[in-house]
Amino acid sequence: MLNGNTMSKSTPETFFSAIPMAMRDPILGITEAFNADTNPEKINLGVGVYYDDNGKVPQLQCVREAEAVMLKKAMPHTYLPIDGLPSFITAVQKMVFGEDNPALREGRIITTQALGGTGALRIGADFLRRFSPNPQVWISDPSWENHRALFEASGFTVNAYPYYDAATRSINFNGMVEAFQSMPEGTAVVLHACCHNPTGLDLSEGQWDEIMAVIQERSLVPFLDMAYQGFAQSLEADGRIVRRFSENCPYVLVSNSYSKSFSLYGERIGAFSLVTRSADEAARALSQVKRVIRTNYSNPARHGADIVTTVLTSPELYTMWDNELSEMRSRIRQMRERLAQDLSALREDADFHYITLQNGLFSYSGLGKEQAETLRNDHSIYALDTGRICVAALNSANIGRVAKAIARVL
Ligand code: LMR
Repeated sequence: MLNGNTMSKSTPETFFSAIPMAMRDPILGITEAFNADTNPEKINLGVGVYYDDNGKVPQLQCVREAEAVMLKKAMPHTYLPIDGLPSFITAVQKMVFGEDNPALREGRIITTQALGGTGALRIGADFLRRFSPNPQVWISDPSWENHRALFEASGFTVNAYPYYDAATRSINFNGMVEAFQSMPEGTAVVLHACCHNPTGLDLSEGQWDEIMAVIQERSLVPFLDMAYQGFAQSLEADGRIVRRFSENCPYVLVSNSYSKSFSLYGERIGAFSLVTRSADEAARALSQVKRVIRTNYSNPARHGADIVTTVLTSPELYTMWDNELSEMRSRIRQMRERLAQDLSALREDADFHYITLQNGLFSYSGLGKEQAETLRNDHSIYALDTGRICVAALNSANIGRVAKAIARVL
């Protein structure tokens, strides 16, 4: 019999006290551990953030100039529409899909502002989950650590297709194609448009053609994640694959982010786009995507969208941005070359050429979990447990120490 002191199973005390500790986030949890380290020589190679050669997150000149323009306009802080700043949406569509893209001209593409690339992925995942009869999604093995968690949180069963062959440090393309060939019709499949996270290995043009053909044949639904446009070859070249998908596949989802390319991490600015078969389908899809947004966070924040729009719509600021981005890209490339050189000098028994063949912010270094732990514990150097390191956090002052430590633990 229940008396006044007996708690039934449904009391708040019971369920709050039974909450288990969640796993530390595999990427941002490393930053938490880094922040707690008191060693002044500590180095964070975990999270994907670009630092300049002085170890600082840069504020781009084009961003400063855009903010000066915005300050003069003294815009009120009103609500944005549910799908975001209209001029941002137009500018993003032109940039991501190309001004003369037939799907864009025909009104078949919808775009909404999103809270960074993660927010864009989540909008797409929630939207797909509500309408697709197939609650399965495939991500690459390995993939960005948060892909699996995010799609699971939206209610998907997440499967992985082969991507990286650790033995050859290259893409297991045959395995990838075979997996795509056996996916059921309508399955959503996540692809990294450029700078594959975490491996840094991108498909060649010929491989993209083959994959696109299988996607068309099997009526799969490609979800292109483009968080690093401009960090492989150029803004133009890195964006090409999204444009080709939009021209060849009836349905394409795209998440893109300006966090890294504009160094606007804290502004949470990105976009979600969906290519459909008709303007009518697009209008209905947009109405539902807006429901997803309204029931999550109502409407997005303004500042980051204003900055990006100001730059994308000014030919002068756009050129400045393109140049600044290419400086970031070449600095990362120099760090790759230097890391490979230093490691080769320290460990003549191993070949580090693979580091120079990878694109983007990361290198899949080949370190295992225990080695990453030793790097953290003995050297205050923070890499992910998968061995992913952020090459964009290396600089002329810290690279020697990083190379020595990696050479020692490998
Ligand atoms: C990363 O992969 O480190 C970045 O995309 C940051 C993040 O949110 O995980």
